[in-house]
Amino acid sequence: MKQSRPQVPVITVDGPSGSGKGTLCRLLARELGWNLLDSGALYRLVGIAARNHGVGIDNHAALEVLAGHLDVQFQPGADDAGDVRVVLEGEDVTGVVRSEEVGALASQVGAVAAVRAALLDRQRAFCVLPGLVADGRDMGTEVFPEAELKVFLTASPEERAARRFRQLIDKGDAVSLPRLVADIETRDRRDLERSVSPLRPSPEAVLIDTTGVSIADVFARLMSLARERGLA
Ligand code: C5P
Repeated sequence: MKQSRPQVPVITVDGPSGSGKGTLCRLLARELGWNLLDSGALYRLVGIAARNHGVGIDNHAALEVLAGHLDVQFQPGADDAGDVRVVLEGEDVTGVVRSEEVGALASQVGAVAAVRAALLDRQRAFCVLPGLVADGRDMGTEVFPEAELKVFLTASPEERAARRFRQLIDKGDAVSLPRLVADIETRDRRDLERSVSPLRPSPEAVLIDTTGVSIADVFARLMSLARERGLA
């Protein structure tokens, strides 16, 4: 007889930095009332943990242990804006987790196969009813290959850098645009060229170029795709 485990619907949204994934996934999860996985945050946290413990990027065995035992809590923020406080090993790292410096660390630990394997179960644990919106680089290809809807977002490198620039400035970080463009290029190259789970669209993914398109319009497109598949 066929097993009758309830099927948890999943929408995966993959793409490079600055493609709009983070904002759109938050909006989608809120609209659908589903759980949200920000997988980039997990890679960023492994990067911070490695730095705190003095573990080098080439020490794969130690990185695997850190990734497998991440002591992290995502706590609701003080206001009602849906903000989340990130606490790693008892330390509030909310202010640094999305910094460019930590993004660069994340992309280095993300190229280590043992780290990716150690984070698989933790990512899949987010897949609970009523559904999951998963934001990342390999959500549709590796982590949730059975997802009902897979989306791959892109945008021109200039627009992605400009979006990141605005985000970081709004957060109060001192960044230079030319430096950011260079950082994004380095990170893109590493994500695209790594041998394990490189950034690439799943063959079933719907490709959406968000260059010059407003968040509201991309969101409307995603909701219409979700409705077409009976998810909303
Ligand atoms: O999405 P975010 O900018 O937070 O990701 C930071 C870095 O973590 C990415 O540049 C990528 O190298 C890595 N990452 C990954 N796989 C994911 C999510 C993020 O390798 N699923």
